Amino acid sequence: MAEITNAVIRKIIDSRGNPTAEVDIISNRAVGRASAPSGASKGTFEVKDYPGGGIDQGIRAFERVAHMAVGMRLSDQKNFDAMLHEADGTNDFARIGGNVAVAMSLAYAKASALSENMELYQALSTGKAKSLPIPIGNIIGGGRHAINGTTMQEFLSLARAGSYSESAFANVSVHKNAGKLLRGKFPQLSLGLGDEKAWVAPLSDDEALEILSDAIKAASDETKADIGLSVDLAASEFCDNGTYSYGDRILSTDEQIDFVADLAQRFGIRSLEDPLDESDFDGFARLTKKIGSKTMIIGDDLFVTNKERLQKGIGMGAANAILIKPNQIGTLSDMIDTVELAKRSNYKTVISHRSGETEDSTIAHLAVGLGIGYIKTGTIGGERTAKHNELIRIEERMRNG
Ligand code: PGA
Ligand code: ZN
Repeated sequence: MAEITNAVIRKIIDSRGNPTAEVDIISNRAVGRASAPSGASKGTFEVKDYPGGGIDQGIRAFERVAHMAVGMRLSDQKNFDAMLHEADGTNDFARIGGNVAVAMSLAYAKASALSENMELYQALSTGKAKSLPIPIGNIIGGGRHAINGTTMQEFLSLARAGSYSESAFANVSVHKNAGKLLRGKFPQLSLGLGDEKAWVAPLSDDEALEILSDAIKAASDETKADIGLSVDLAASEFCDNGTYSYGDRILSTDEQIDFVADLAQRFGIRSLEDPLDESDFDGFARLTKKIGSKTMIIGDDLFVTNKERLQKGIGMGAANAILIKPNQIGTLSDMIDTVELAKRSNYKTVISHRSGETEDSTIAHLAVGLGIGYIKTGTIGGERTAKHNELIRIEERMRNG
């Protein structure tokens, strides 16, 4: 059995130009490397990404944890993650930072897999059937991810075709068609891309939905894939005390529920993420009761990949799907517990990038290895295509046995 001989941390540049943590877990058999992404519309109930002093303090804390890691055996993820919790000593990774913890936890998982001559997705799925997720790609955006964009954060497409590769290219076709339509609508304007490489333009939410619908029609004709609409409202970002502010009008919680239920019906929306405030389990339950049989209602900021919060949602019938972001909870073991609870409870699972990303493609492996149903990771842009292209390689490898 291989042992950890060294653990190294470094500051690397993320897709927004901010520093983030990358960790190497080194053994005599293999080196596992992973880095942490970062959010812009972070949920209040996520673990702390870095201690109070920021990334530099996280890096100082790492030195102490690295000391504890050296000498530990590989291939005992639960034991390693328990060590991370013990070294931190809080329930929200306030001392070492969830981003340092998650980079260590995932780097350990990779080192373990590689030391047994497996890729991570293979090590996670030994003995289980493997399947590729369905990609959900960001097409038009605003909210916290762009200035002067839409109120709702993300307008996405969800494509199903014969293979992962065809599905991902179908989302790319939606992105290209949306670009064409936007250039036609705003001939005088320099169009931009937001943090996740979705189009940014001065559009109302309704206009964004119209353009997305048209782009999806064109892409469906072009690719023959089955493509649907998906929206991440990230509603906590424009909710204050139970009222939702859309610039020109303010909606109560009841009105917000009726409004999004109506949108879902009008545009045939397949999935709605965070349509209500991150604390409003009751509102989520009422909306799920209303449209949950037809629409995926995904809790991101609501659940923050946290098993206890998911358990509460299951008890109340709040949402019917969960977004999974490893750095919201800090360790792979905690994330797996949450995924397993979701699956046992018939909640759909969607693994996700963050708006600030690196070229790390670990979530592609987690999606396949853990049988996660969907992956939300942008449509284009190197830090997003890193995940798609890894899934294309995994698909090829699975096909070739
Ligand atoms: P993030 O949010 O900016 O916190 O990564 C993305 C999302 O809401 O899904
Ligand atoms: Zn979200």
